[in-house]
Amino acid sequence: MTPQVSVLDAGGQYCHLIARRVRELGVYADVQPCDVDPKSLRNRSAIIISGGPSSVYEPGSPQVDGEIYKLGLPVLGICYGLQLMARSLGGTVEKGDKGEYGQATIEVLLADRLLAGFAKTESVWMSHRDRVANLPPGFRLMAATPTCPVAAIGDEAHNLYGVQFHPEVVHTHRGRRLLENFLFEIAECQRDWDPLQQFPEIERQVREVTGDRNVLFFASGGVDSTVAFALCLRALGPERVHAVYVDTGLMREGETEFVRATFERMAMGVFEVADARSQFLGALAGVHEPERKRHIIGEEFVRVQERILERGHFLDGHWILGQGTIYPDTIESGGTKQADLIKTHHNRVAGIQRLIEQNKIVEPLRDLYKDEVRVLGRTLGLPDALLDRHPFPGPGLAIRCLCAAEAGVPERTSDGYIVPVRSVGVQGDSRTYRAVLALEERPSEAVMEQATETINHLTTVNRVIALCGAHVPLREMRVLASALSTERLARLRAADAIVRRMSEESGFERQVWQFPVVLIPLGSADRPDSVVLRPIHSVDGMTASAVVMEERLLASMTEQLLAIDGVAAVFYDLTHKPPATIEWE
Ligand code: XMP
Repeated sequence: MTPQVSVLDAGGQYCHLIARRVRELGVYADVQPCDVDPKSLRNRSAIIISGGPSSVYEPGSPQVDGEIYKLGLPVLGICYGLQLMARSLGGTVEKGDKGEYGQATIEVLLADRLLAGFAKTESVWMSHRDRVANLPPGFRLMAATPTCPVAAIGDEAHNLYGVQFHPEVVHTHRGRRLLENFLFEIAECQRDWDPLQQFPEIERQVREVTGDRNVLFFASGGVDSTVAFALCLRALGPERVHAVYVDTGLMREGETEFVRATFERMAMGVFEVADARSQFLGALAGVHEPERKRHIIGEEFVRVQERILERGHFLDGHWILGQGTIYPDTIESGGTKQADLIKTHHNRVAGIQRLIEQNKIVEPLRDLYKDEVRVLGRTLGLPDALLDRHPFPGPGLAIRCLCAAEAGVPERTSDGYIVPVRSVGVQGDSRTYRAVLALEERPSEAVMEQATETINHLTTVNRVIALCGAHVPLREMRVLASALSTERLARLRAADAIVRRMSEESGFERQVWQFPVVLIPLGSADRPDSVVLRPIHSVDGMTASAVVMEERLLASMTEQLLAIDGVAAVFYDLTHKPPATIEWE
């Protein structure tokens, strides 16, 4: 199927969200590297240039061939895409004196064409430092904010438009309308996309790729690999599919049993568990550096997988590998040159890459987004408990169990205590590891507002956490040298199980998109760790807001968590994404 719209990836994680939003509006869209040859886009109806973390003047920053604007196609530049467009067509871009991250209000100057249906003022989501200073010839100013005088521009004669804010995120209230205006009014796209219509084509592809071979899956218990397995099961029958679940020792409580039950409900005899707990924990022993932990886990996955492949004679030519790779996975880890390292996918490490090159792989979901996969899964009869479960990262509890190479003392400042653990955040679009600011106040809406302001002026921290309860006063707490031990993982697993049970029973689980529970090495000699609660609202994980839970639930959760052996305190993460990420590593 030829896409009507291509989203050019300027290195931002937002490019997928843009393509997804276009598909949600019923228009098939793909993502292309931003240095794509413009001639290959001639048969599109429109082009969108995404945001990205770079500055247009930086050497080596992603660029778009200026011929794109001469194809006669409507082009929409978003954020960095707007800046690229403005600069390429004769305008100028300058560094803003301070960045603008989060909610902002635009004044709409031209509520027409791209901004048809917009009120005089509208709430939008901003995430940028640079801004357009002078408009290119032929462009008119369509919207502005006090910090960002050029928030939307358009050259109506050539159907070229640009916005500094992000219409693809839900925080931009009329973002959907803007995309509808661009797709249907300006670019005259047709509605041609419905994921449910893809069943026959996906099954045909599975049979074609598989030929007379069988399919082996490494099941993770996640939505994607389970739906991919169900699709292969449907296309090929139970005799020709097999699933192995690797128990890494990094999973949550009860996970292995849950996955087993899910697969055995689909078909008996297709599922087995491989115990690799000691292998993973051995490889991670003494490792503190977060990205290194991720890398090791990816490598060990490949090792276990290769061992299973060899021992089970899955390499005898009668088997190929099935994977739940979805569309963003094919692009994020280097499918496009500019993609910033957002996370390390074990679907794309070397060993698996070899199998792909040998044509020994089937990935029935490789053109689909997550919500499209869920739609298929529901139609296939998979249980809601699986399809609606919160996302859980592939590297498991390892990236929620922070380690410290050396001991450290939190520094008392007028803003709170700067705790020397390293947690990841996202500024612009790139990942940065920084310290955390701990407040003695209990979490509340007011403290969250104050935290959002504090973090904007502090460049040394990524997050703000508020104290829910403790055995030890914050001023006496220390960061302790600590690694990824069985004991600490068991502590985190116990904390996570308590939080999950209480959130499910209270209904809070359904009010949030994800609820990571994190263990940080902050406490005292006999209680060396603290638990951090990280419930968030999100639509897609690309942006997120911290959520304050109801006081009674929080009080009883805190009480139960403080009863866990070795837990000194319970904290609450009040930071939105950006500037923090959802996970802590
Ligand atoms: P961040 O922390 O980047 O997370 O805000 C965004 C979403 O991605 C999930 N996540 C992962 N999922 N493998 C995964 O399968 C990973 O390595 C990984 N890292 C983060 C995270 O849980 C959140 O939903």
